[in-house]
Amino acid sequence: MDKKPVPFKKTVFVCVNVREGGRVACGNPGRGGVELCEALKHAVKEKGLKGKVRVAKSGCLDLCEQGPNAFVYPGGEWLSGVTAADVPAIVKKLEE
Ligand code: FES
Repeated sequence: MDKKPVPFKKTVFVCVNVREGGRVACGNPGRGGVELCEALKHAVKEKGLKGKVRVAKSGCLDLCEQGPNAFVYPGGEWLSGVTAADVPAIVKKLEE
């Protein structure tokens, strides 16, 4: 095993989990998780935070009904019901 320091100051984990059979999931069509993840990635790049902030796709975060869900690490903020309109505010906090 090789160890080295984490290169990112912050990571945003965005649930893009997909479920079939009518079960609610952030990544299901119309739920917005995939679009949120892409919007965050785009905004992070646009703000010049690439390399400092990582936007990572996540599996289920266990709050499916409240999704799309995301959390920022470190920082301890859990974000639920996130929409594209929230992206600028999220990215602004990532710059801090
Ligand atoms: S599918 Fe996103 S929290 Fe469960």
